Amino acid sequence: MEKKMRTDQEMDSTALTDTAKMIVADDKGLLAIDESTPTCNRRFAEIGIPQTLENRRAYREWIIKTPGLGEFISGMILYDETIRQHDADGYPFIKIIADEGIIPGIKVDTGAKELAGHPGEKITEGLDGLRDRLREYSGMGARFAKWRAVIAMGQGIPGSACIEANAQALARYAALCQEAGLVPVVEAEVLMDGVHTLGQCRETTTAVLHAVFNQLYMQGVCLEGIILKPNMVVPGLICPQKATTDEVADATVECFLRVVPAAVPGIAFLSGGQSGELASARLNAMQVRFAGKMPWGLSFSFARAIQQPALAIWHGEQANVPAAQQALYHRAQCNHAARRGLYAREMEWAIA
Ligand code: G3H
Repeated sequence: MEKKMRTDQEMDSTALTDTAKMIVADDKGLLAIDESTPTCNRRFAEIGIPQTLENRRAYREWIIKTPGLGEFISGMILYDETIRQHDADGYPFIKIIADEGIIPGIKVDTGAKELAGHPGEKITEGLDGLRDRLREYSGMGARFAKWRAVIAMGQGIPGSACIEANAQALARYAALCQEAGLVPVVEAEVLMDGVHTLGQCRETTTAVLHAVFNQLYMQGVCLEGIILKPNMVVPGLICPQKATTDEVADATVECFLRVVPAAVPGIAFLSGGQSGELASARLNAMQVRFAGKMPWGLSFSFARAIQQPALAIWHGEQANVPAAQQALYHRAQCNHAARRGLYAREMEWAIA
C-alpha cells in the first residue's frame, strides 16, 4: 500500500515535471492573455475600444486563432471569463488552443489588494476555495496555473511583512496546484514604477526570491514541477540613471544564479510594461552573455510585450484582424529568436 502510494506520487510529479519542461522546450514561451476584466477594459479604454463582453471575446478569439502561433508559443494563460468562452462558431477556446499544440493555463489569483497596516503595499488574494476552482479548471483541460504577487518599491517599502505574506500565499497556491496536477507558474513581480536604481531592484528581487523559495520549501512544493515568473532586474521608470541592455542582462541573471535552484526547469519573464522591442533585446542579451551557464531554461511569459502593438492595430475592427495577427505573430517570433540569442533589431525593420 505504502509502495503504491509512493508510485502514484511519483507518477504525479513526473506529469508535473513533464508539463513544466514542455512549457520551456524548443525555445518557446508563454503568451499571457489573462488580463482580468477590469484590466482588459482599461487597455481597451486607453485606445477607445468599447469595453464589452463581446469585444473581449472577439479579441481573445483572433489572438488564439493567429495562424502559426504554436511555432513560438508553448502555452497560453487564460482568465476565468476566457476559459469558458467559444469562437464565433461555438467551438471552445480551450479546445482551439489544445488543437494547435499549445498548453492551456489559467490565472487563478483574484487580484492584489491593499495590505492592511502597510500603506502602498499589496497582498494577492484568492486562496479561499482555490482547491475546488483548481479541480474545475483541471477538468476543463487546463494544465498549468498562474498567481501573481506584486511588490512595490518606494520609500521604506517593500517591508518584510509584505514580502513574507506574498511569498507564503504563492507557496500555498503552488502546493494546491501540484495537488491538483497543475504546474504552478509562480509570479513575483517587483514593479518598475519608481526612482529606484538597478542595484536597488536587484537587492529587492533577490530578497523576494529568497523568501519565495524558502516558502516553497516549507510548503513541500516540488521545484521540478514549477515555472518561476519574475521581473527582469531594471532601474525604476523614473530613475535618472538608465541601464544598458547588457547591464540589465547581467544584473538579472547574476541575481537568479544566486537565488533560483537548479531544480527549477524554467524561468519565464513577465514584461511589466517594457516595450516589446526592449523585452526581446534584454532576453536576447541574457542568452548571449550567459550561454551555457544557466541551469534553467530562460524564457518569456509576456502579455503587453506581445499583445500591445497588435491590440492597437486591431482597434476593435474585424477588418484589422489579419494585420493584428501578423503583428502578434511577429512579436512571438522575435521572442523565440531572443531565446536563441538570435534576435536582432533588423527583425523589427522587416515587419515595419
Ligand atoms: O501577470 C502578468 C502577466 O501575466 C504578464 O503581463 O507581460 O504585461 O507584465 P506583462
